[in-house]
Amino acid sequence: MPVKAKKWILAHHFDGVPKDSDLELVEEELPELQDGEILLEAQALSVDPYMRVFARSALKEGDTIMGSQVGKVIESKSPQHPVGMMLVGSVGWRTHAIVNVNQGPDLLGTPIVVPATPAPGLPVSVNLGVLGMPGATAYFGLLELCQPKAGEVVVVSAAAGAVGSLVGQIAKIKGCTVIGYAGTDEKCKWIKEELGFDHAINYKTRDVAESLKEAAPDGVDCYFDNVGGDFLYTVMRQMNKYGRISVCGAISQYNDNLDNQKSGVFPGILLIVNELRMEGFISTRWLSRWPEAFKEMAAWMKEGKLKYRETTTKGFENMREAFYGMLRGDNTGKAVVNV
Ligand SMILES: NC(=O)c1ccc[n+]([C@@H]2O[C@H](COP(=O)([O-])OP(=O)(O)OC[C@H]3O[C@@H](n4cnc5c(N)ncnc54)[C@H](OP(=O)(O)O)[C@@H]3O)[C@@H](O)[C@H]2O)c1
Repeated sequence: MPVKAKKWILAHHFDGVPKDSDLELVEEELPELQDGEILLEAQALSVDPYMRVFARSALKEGDTIMGSQVGKVIESKSPQHPVGMMLVGSVGWRTHAIVNVNQGPDLLGTPIVVPATPAPGLPVSVNLGVLGMPGATAYFGLLELCQPKAGEVVVVSAAAGAVGSLVGQIAKIKGCTVIGYAGTDEKCKWIKEELGFDHAINYKTRDVAESLKEAAPDGVDCYFDNVGGDFLYTVMRQMNKYGRISVCGAISQYNDNLDNQKSGVFPGILLIVNELRMEGFISTRWLSRWPEAFKEMAAWMKEGKLKYRETTTKGFENMREAFYGMLRGDNTGKAVVNV
C-alpha cells in the first residue's frame, strides 16, 4: 500500500517575520523502498531558530523545510535499521520520509539518521533537546569556548530557551554565578526558582546595562550569546579582563535581511582593552564528542542537577505555528511538535 506523506515546503523565501504564505503543507505519494532504504514515520519534530537563517541559503522555493525529528522505522530494507527502531533523522518537516541510510550528512554536518539515545522514563523528544543538538550546543559552546571556572560570573541570553536554560544550569554545576536574561516574568521565575540561576532578568521590562551592573557589580567573565545585536555590545561593555564570549546565536537579527544588516562601528576597542576572546561556533564542530555530552547530561538529570522543559504543539499541521511561536518567544525550554 503506497504511503502518503505530508510535508511543509518553502513556498516563498522569508522576507522579515515568516508568514503563512511562505510555508505550504503538501502531500506526496512515496515510492517503493529500494535496498538500503528505510521508511521513517515522524513521532516528534523540532522547530529551531536556524531554520529561519538557513532557509535563504540552503533552500529553493518548493523545497521541504529542513529539520530534525525522532522517527520510527515502519518499513526497512536496511538490516541495521529494523522496523520499530527509533532514529533521529535530519529529514525535514515530513510525516514520512524515505531515507537512504548511506546518504551523506545534512547541511549542518549531522548524519542523516542516528539511533535515538535511550532515555528511560523520558519522552523520545528529549533527543531533539537536552540529549540532542541543543544539548550539545549548550555543553560544548559553554565548556569549550567559555571554559568557566568556579566563582566566575556567567551571563546567558535567551536563557529560558532550549540552549540557554541548559547553559545556565551547566554553569551552576561548574560553580559559577549565573545571570540569565529572558523575555517574560514567568520564564524568569522558572530559571531562578526551578533551575537555580542566581539572577533572572526580563530584558523586555528592565534596561540590560543597568540591570547587569546591579547583578554583576564586579563585571562579567563569560557571556554565552544567543541573541547578538545591541544585547551583545551591552554585555561586552561589562566584561572583565580576559573575559570569554561564546557566540552561539544572533536571534535578534534573524528576521533582518542578511544583505542589509545594520552597519555600525564594531566595538573592537572593548576586546583590545580587556583582552577578550570571542568565538563563534556551530555545534557540529564537536559532533564526534556529542555522546560524551549526552552521557554527562543524562547523569546530571538523574542526579536532579539538570532539568529540562518542553513546549509542545500537537499536530503536524501546526508546525508553522510552532515555528512562529518559537521565533517570537512563546516557548519555555525546547519547542517541539508531537505528531
Ligand atoms: N551555533 C550553533 O551551533 C547553534 C545551535 C543551536 C542554537 N543556536 C542558536 O542559539 C540560540 C537559541 O536557540 P534555541 O534553539 O535554544 O532557541 P530557544 O532559545 O528555545 O528559542 C528562541 C528564543 O529566542 C528568544 N528571542 C527571540 N527573539 C529575540 C530577541 N529579539 N531578543 C532576545 N531574545 C529573543 C525568545 O525567548 P525570549 O522570550 O527570552 O525573548 C525565544 O524563545 C539561537 O540564536 C540559535 O540560532 C546555535
